[in-house]
Amino acid sequence: MGRLLLEDGSLTPDWAPAFDAVPRAAFLPDLMWPHDMATGRNVAVDKRQAPERWQEYADSNDPIVTQWDDGRHDGPEPGKSFSSSSSMPSLVFSMLADLGVQPGQRVLEIGSGTGWNAALLAHRLGAANVVTVEVDGAVAAQAQESLDRFGLAVEVVRGDGFLGYAKRAPYDRIIATCGLRKVPFAWVEQSAPGGVILVPWGTYYGPGEATARLVVAEDCQSASGPFTRPVAFMRMRSQRFVWPRHDEYVPAGAMDAADVSYASSLTEEELCGGAGGFGVVPFALGLRVPEVAHTADRKRDGKRAVWFYGLSDRSWAVIVFRDDQEQAKVYQSGPRRLWDEVEAAHRWWVDQGRPGFDRFGLTVDQDGERPWLDSPGNPVRATGSP
Ligand SMILES: C[S@@+](CC[C@H](N)C(=O)[O-])C[C@H]1O[C@@H](n2cnc3c(N)ncnc32)[C@H](O)[C@@H]1O
Repeated sequence: MGRLLLEDGSLTPDWAPAFDAVPRAAFLPDLMWPHDMATGRNVAVDKRQAPERWQEYADSNDPIVTQWDDGRHDGPEPGKSFSSSSSMPSLVFSMLADLGVQPGQRVLEIGSGTGWNAALLAHRLGAANVVTVEVDGAVAAQAQESLDRFGLAVEVVRGDGFLGYAKRAPYDRIIATCGLRKVPFAWVEQSAPGGVILVPWGTYYGPGEATARLVVAEDCQSASGPFTRPVAFMRMRSQRFVWPRHDEYVPAGAMDAADVSYASSLTEEELCGGAGGFGVVPFALGLRVPEVAHTADRKRDGKRAVWFYGLSDRSWAVIVFRDDQEQAKVYQSGPRRLWDEVEAAHRWWVDQGRPGFDRFGLTVDQDGERPWLDSPGNPVRATGSP
């Protein structure tokens, strides 16, 4: 496993000693649910019943769910939605490489989970230099127990990581291992000048996100930097997206009253961009068209509808692609013309040379966050957008 991670570049040589000294297995519960990447399913594996299989998964590059439904779930069957996990080791080490720690630095981790990432950091920097915040009481207690058992006296704080942890500030590095839609200004204020905040960030447009590596300004009043890689994390609890009810937007008869047009250029493939909604196209469209969520229906009988819901009002749009028709039909309703906004955003992305994740970046200050292309002076959002 270590060799594979070294070969694919996710495990950098400076992290190899920590990888060898701190096995993921020491931080996993007896009953766990590895995510089988081939089938897309989670399977229950119990160490007490299948120790070899359990060890195989512990040593694999698969993400492993360790809690369902905020702890309300019982028994071996997977629950409805996962609420804590051990991330893919290749991702863990890629993010640690992005974080770029130096000896003696102080690190705040948001999202303790199993405690493994905090243990790796503690092995490298010393346990006294690492503090980790976990919102779930049972998960925090388990992480603390595992860290103590391993002989790493990291402080695990039970609390809302959105607030950071002012008591031990300033931090040279802050790393979030849950996904955010809003980056708290508290993290900027609690950083040392020149510190780094590494945070999985995305918009409400789709499920995809990317890690932003923000460097904190000397006055600790802003932080800015590029996105480093696409990722898929569970969201911070307070920032989970609750899908709007379709019929609140599109009640019976609303389709008949909507404005109808035909999409000129964009194909289904171009709009959805492959990669199950995690590609760069939905990421970029979400940066350009704020306060909108979209979802693609499953394709049936050569027909697929992609829906858009305005989150700042009840505007909606749907584009209906049919294999047997060259032009897709569009329905739009409400104060915003969401399809027009999305189509224009896609045209903008093409005009910019179809930028990948790494040409985008983010600036965070007291007023919120502003995505940019190539440099902070070149904001992505069209002026006047909500
Ligand atoms: C992917 S897991 C973290 C994995 C962990 N770093 C490890 O090494 O195992 C994400 C964690 O973030 C926690 N979390 C979600 N919202 C949070 C919040 N507001 N503050 C702190 N932790 C939060 C979840 O409970 C979950 O345990």
